Amino acid sequence: MSELQTPQAGDDHAADNDVVSLLMRQHGDIRNLFDEVEATAGDERRDAFRRLVRLLAVHETAEEEVVHPFVRRAVAGGEQIVEDRLTEEREAKEMLASLDEMDPDDPRFLPQLIQLRHDVQTHARAEERYEFIHIRRSTDVTDLAAMARAIKAAEAMAPTRPHPGVESAAKNMALGPVAALMDRTKDTVRKAMGGS
Ligand SMILES: [Fe+2]
Ligand SMILES: [Fe+2]
Repeated sequence: MSELQTPQAGDDHAADNDVVSLLMRQHGDIRNLFDEVEATAGDERRDAFRRLVRLLAVHETAEEEVVHPFVRRAVAGGEQIVEDRLTEEREAKEMLASLDEMDPDDPRFLPQLIQLRHDVQTHARAEERYEFIHIRRSTDVTDLAAMARAIKAAEAMAPTRPHPGVESAAKNMALGPVAALMDRTKDTVRKAMGGS
């Protein structure tokens, strides 16, 4: 076990009705998981990487369902802001997929992971700067509460801490491919938002 501990999402009791603080906390969880993947090797790295992949998949899917639609309808110039973010998210997903096919002990793994980390952090800063700031200014309380509910519901699908026990890697793998996880996240978010 590495001494790097990534706190379990939700352990900090972030205000459950504050969608921006939830998303910012997830940006921090993603950063911590990158640290954990970089600091480990072998099975530990494999396990930390699975958790990173899951959180990134769930986080980006939830943003696509919750944050981007809000920015499109409520922010001047929102269409372009969202298009730029979607381009970044697409690129990150492609790089994630190529890393996902690689053995984490492959010498090409770490350089690609560091590149991905850089891109993901640039993307997160752009979201905070061009999207979250508008959500913070919104006064539609019902809308904000629905968004927060959706982000919480999605978050429950991506544990940031390893499962206890030696079978953790196998368990994480058994949770299924990323595309299926994204589909399930979409359903969960839409239900929580009160849609179909
Ligand atoms: Fe995003
Ligand atoms: Fe984000």
